[in-house]
Amino acid sequence: MSKLHVDTRLAHAGERYDLGTGAVMPPISLASTYRRDKVDAPGPYTYARIDNPNRAALEEVVADLEGAPDAVAFASGCAAMDAALQLAPHGGVVLACRELYGGTYRLLTSLHQERGITLHWFSLADSASLQAGLDQKPALLWLESPSNPLLRLIDLRKTAALARAAGVRTVIDNTFATPLLQRPLEFGIDVVVHSSTKYFGGHSDTLGGIALSLDPVILERLRFIQRAKGGALAPFDAYLTLRGLRTLHLRLATACSNAHAVAEFLARQPDLAAVHYPGLPTHPDHALAGRQMADFGAIVSADLGTAPRAKAFLESLELFALGDSLGGVESLCSYASAMSHAALSADDLRAAGITPGLVRLSVGIESAADLIDDIAKALNVAQQTR
Ligand SMILES: Cc1ncc(COP(=O)(O)O)c(C=O)c1O
Repeated sequence: MSKLHVDTRLAHAGERYDLGTGAVMPPISLASTYRRDKVDAPGPYTYARIDNPNRAALEEVVADLEGAPDAVAFASGCAAMDAALQLAPHGGVVLACRELYGGTYRLLTSLHQERGITLHWFSLADSASLQAGLDQKPALLWLESPSNPLLRLIDLRKTAALARAAGVRTVIDNTFATPLLQRPLEFGIDVVVHSSTKYFGGHSDTLGGIALSLDPVILERLRFIQRAKGGALAPFDAYLTLRGLRTLHLRLATACSNAHAVAEFLARQPDLAAVHYPGLPTHPDHALAGRQMADFGAIVSADLGTAPRAKAFLESLELFALGDSLGGVESLCSYASAMSHAALSADDLRAAGITPGLVRLSVGIESAADLIDDIAKALNVAQQTR
């Protein structure tokens, strides 16, 4: 049989991990320890930090989605990113895009600088800064595309080729796109990381992270870090994430379509300083997004001009919960400079383009009309705020 469509593979994700009962969803396997009959003859599982059927089922499904031979699941997106950053040796240079999630910035500027990496920045919007950074011979190039929270993109095929020519390993945080919208390994990127807390889980009730590569040496290193340091994903979280993945295609299609409607509504409002959504023809990366992504994603951000207006807007929304995450079935909203990007200094916020009036919307799967009504009411309140 030819390879089944991804929607079919998702609906049946993890089925073969039943371990003999006929269950169509793998049962949660909570044991920390697995008995062996002989010292030198362990069974398929030995100890839960090393391996677990729920984690293995999830890893197999995500590897299939990204087109990788294997995937390594961690306790959070940050744990997966930390493992990928360890691919840069002590004393090595990491070249990172300025436009990235605040937790990645925190990892880079604290723990990884403390262990001896040198950090250089470039901007996704400035190809000269990328080339200048590559000329410094970094060990690792860190990308986020689309970026959090401004949805800037970088040409993955071109960047992967430039980095490869310079002998630099590339890592991308693919959380905002998911492999349904963008498969970076096919463009030549070396390592993909995800916060599975977001779209993979999809219901704001589990935390996790995944790292993958086509390169067996990198995969082996990531697996070693997962097992030796003990930051592996727990069985219950693996179960929830796999359950979420079974409907990823349906959730994401609705969320992207809603986000498009929300972005178009916002773009029609005369009082907004900016609306950021790659699906809008006015977005600087619109054409690239059309080439590189299967859809434009479900995050929209907008600049309401001032911090008081932005806060009044966020606090007036009723359907969008003001909260620290994204990618759930329910819509969420946030104020990047005090929430997801609170770790950035004032200068670095400016350099990343995060203005005081910026709000981020994670658009869920509710009725688009209800979401737009909610936004219209909150904009009215914001407009009366000085
Ligand atoms: C783009 C992106 N990457 C990584 C993370 C970190 O993931 P986690 O919270 O699962 O550690 C986040 C969290 O918001 C994120 O938005």
